[in-house]
Amino acid sequence: MITIFDEHQVIAVVGGQWGDEGKGKFIDYLAKEADIIARGTGGNNAGHTIVLNGAKHIFHLLPSGILHKNKLNLIGNGTVIDPKVLLEEIETLEKAGYYVDQENLAISGDAHVILPYHVEIEARGAKEKIGTTGRGIGPTYIDKAARCGVRMNDLTNYSILEEKVKQNLKEKKGEYPEQELEDTVQAYTKYGLKLFTYIKDTRTILKNAHDQGKKILLEGAQGTLLSMDHGTYPFVTSSECSAAGLASGVGLLRDMKVLSVVKAYTTRVGNGPFPSELNNSLGELIRQTGAEYGATTGRPRKCGWLDAVALKHTLGINGNSIVVSKLDVLGGLEEIKICTQYLYSGPQVPYNGAIITNGQQIDFFPTDSRILENCKPVYEYIQPGWSGTVKDKLPELASMYLNAISCITGAKIEMVSYGAEREKMFSNPTPFYKRA
Ligand code: IMP
Repeated sequence: MITIFDEHQVIAVVGGQWGDEGKGKFIDYLAKEADIIARGTGGNNAGHTIVLNGAKHIFHLLPSGILHKNKLNLIGNGTVIDPKVLLEEIETLEKAGYYVDQENLAISGDAHVILPYHVEIEARGAKEKIGTTGRGIGPTYIDKAARCGVRMNDLTNYSILEEKVKQNLKEKKGEYPEQELEDTVQAYTKYGLKLFTYIKDTRTILKNAHDQGKKILLEGAQGTLLSMDHGTYPFVTSSECSAAGLASGVGLLRDMKVLSVVKAYTTRVGNGPFPSELNNSLGELIRQTGAEYGATTGRPRKCGWLDAVALKHTLGINGNSIVVSKLDVLGGLEEIKICTQYLYSGPQVPYNGAIITNGQQIDFFPTDSRILENCKPVYEYIQPGWSGTVKDKLPELASMYLNAISCITGAKIEMVSYGAEREKMFSNPTPFYKRA
């Protein structure tokens, strides 16, 4: 069987929407063939469910390849790490009989550390305003950009750690509380000692692996519409979660094949505009059928039709190869729609050197949330739904739907998943793929 890794040595799997696209299943599928699985962005705001000996566990930091034998899992320089959470995940795995050692886990010494004051700062502002996960992600990336962040390597150097934490506490709290300084430095030095053997020069590991012809899988987190540069600013996360950000976050940009994971419909969690949201019983039905609740916070995800305007925007950034997830969730619906344009219904507004006026139809994706929140969906594509479950062959109407996605967005559909189980996946695109 010819697989995607026969043609590409580096595959990046990223989110093509607002996160939660079901990347985990494709990453798990591709991880079987990879030698290295690497994360490069975000932190424990992400979450994927892994079943261990019949019990479900949610992992937030460890790459999805951690359960595959003889594979190196790497947490790259672009991530932000809460060492306590990471150690808990390692412990959970070990209790379940999976041994984590230097052979299967490497953490970049340059990755930034989430400290308790980051979580506190977030709780005072962005958590409610943006609807963040409350894990300290934004404030940690702020310190990284302000060049006062604590990095994984600092955890193994007591005096540097003390100096940096002292400075940060002073700046953030006016005067630093002695006890907090001592407690933080003591606790994080302990974490550093426990993680010491995993901390590595991960970019050199990747470069050497690439030189040796090893297969590398880059695991994206969140989705491109949550990217700081390309997403619905300010309702975004604080990392660059497009494929470009992922490459930078691991320090490897070589012959990379990008696969964007796209749910057959759209979901969003947290605040911010979502034009094709179904704020009605149909949206609720999709939420229940698709079990659309956040893996990290348990929050219900808003659900809606596939938004082709948004999808074309992210494909323009990441390339046009996509894999479609959760197609089965749409089974049994009377009709299915795709949002193909927006109707702008708001005050006249200047945007990118032009004026958008009330009542104007637009076919581009405004990355300014104040504009996007005034955009209503236009559904130029409506088709009947399919009945019955998807088994070894796609119902004709499901193929038609996939064809429509291809034709409207120009996407090349490489794989389709129609259920949580590993085998519920079509990886031969020919029966339903027709280029626009
Ligand atoms: P933060 O990443 O915790 O700062 O949250 C910023 C925004 O990104 C919020 O709207 C979150 O709900 C969203 N977000 C962060 N991580 C994920 C994820 O893994 N899936 C979906 N949304 C996410």
